[in-house]
Amino acid sequence: MITDISRIFHEKLEGNEVTLRGWVHRHRASGNIVFAAMRDASGIIQLAIKKDKVNEKDFKEANESYVESSIIVKGTVKKDERAPGGYELQVTNYELVSRGEPFPVAKDLSEEYLLDIRHLWIRSQKMTAILKIRSTMVQAIHEFFQSKGYVLFDPPILSPNACEGKMTLFEVQYYAEKMYLTQSWQLYAEAGIFGLGKIYDVAPTFRAEKSKTAKHLSEFWMAEMEAAWMELPQVTELAKDEIKFLVEKVIEKHVAELKILGRDIEKLKSQVSKPFPTITYTQAIEMLVKDGAEIKWGEDLRTTEEEQLMKHFDTPIVVTNYPIEIMAFYKPKDPKDPKTALCFDMLAPDGFGEIVGGSQRSLDVNDMMKRLSKEGNPEDYNWYFDLRKYGSVPHSGYGVGVERVLRWICGLENIKDVIAFPRTMSRNKP
Ligand code: 4AD
Ligand code: MG
Repeated sequence: MITDISRIFHEKLEGNEVTLRGWVHRHRASGNIVFAAMRDASGIIQLAIKKDKVNEKDFKEANESYVESSIIVKGTVKKDERAPGGYELQVTNYELVSRGEPFPVAKDLSEEYLLDIRHLWIRSQKMTAILKIRSTMVQAIHEFFQSKGYVLFDPPILSPNACEGKMTLFEVQYYAEKMYLTQSWQLYAEAGIFGLGKIYDVAPTFRAEKSKTAKHLSEFWMAEMEAAWMELPQVTELAKDEIKFLVEKVIEKHVAELKILGRDIEKLKSQVSKPFPTITYTQAIEMLVKDGAEIKWGEDLRTTEEEQLMKHFDTPIVVTNYPIEIMAFYKPKDPKDPKTALCFDMLAPDGFGEIVGGSQRSLDVNDMMKRLSKEGNPEDYNWYFDLRKYGSVPHSGYGVGVERVLRWICGLENIKDVIAFPRTMSRNKP
């Protein structure tokens, strides 16, 4: 019977004869026996290959295998308390499918080197655990929105407009014209809601970030939503519900993977088991000033300030009403506090920083044109302003940084580790 390794553990296949297909994970030859471990996508099992139990050719091949050689082995499952997982395979047939060369990944290699050989490193237990968690989280985003009646709405990736400012645009030659890789799905989503009402998407997003930080990628995935008739208070509550849902889904399915990553699962659980507070930017500044931070009202929160602020909280928080002056053109004035915008960010605990950004959308075309004229030609946005002319309605939306949330869930130092092939200012290969 050909089987996945994990089935041996789940179904306690002691005494069964099984065939496994996978890769050599560890390898140690000592005289008449080869001790090895093999892995497949589902798990790792110890192999015992004894000279008197296999034919000469098989033993020779087992002896000469390198780590990451691909193999097919047949044998009998035996209980062995000392083996990781409690079972060992006593091998009777050993087929070397591809011997491979000595594998260039060993212990204690630098972060940059592991990024250079990312095409090989993604087989590691660490990367495999992360990528499985990522798959579950993206699936959970679809589940969350589909269960609430949202329609999946795919945006164009090539866009004639900036959404989040001209500074971080990637320009693309588009036949005889210039276009940009999308910075956000939002402007097109605002067109989508008039027919579809409530929509969402998970899509690649591009920003030519000039900063080399542990939380910026040049190519990342954003999960965005937009809904007609929704205002700031409702949209912030929806974002809280979504983030809770995503974390809970990952914990439900991935205790083993989170353990491989060394994540404190109880802490993560407790961080989403309480309500997430909402405060205003102004309250945040007051707290920071009280703590002695050198920040004045009107300045954006930098990483250090976000970290300082989050010392007061043990859950994610929502911060609303940032100063209008530092906000994108589409974020409307709050009529109750016109120096600020009807917008929000969600910050993760433990210094993981901003994970969600969103707002109510401006309906005031003149104000948007004025704000856009500082950066370029407002007429490029005429199609977008049309949306305010033909049955405009209050509406709101937000974007979740998929890798930002994953970095927090996995408890990882660098955002580059939560995407298979990261793209940053200093990394575009392999
Ligand atoms: O706050 P941002 O810039 O918001 C928008 O783009 C809105 N148009 C979204 C909307 O309202 N539909 O980006 C949203 C989130 C951030 O909170 C952050 O989590 C993530 O996207 N993000 C990045 N993640 C990784 N690398 C980067 N360079 C990121 N820039 C933003
Ligand atoms: Mg933001």
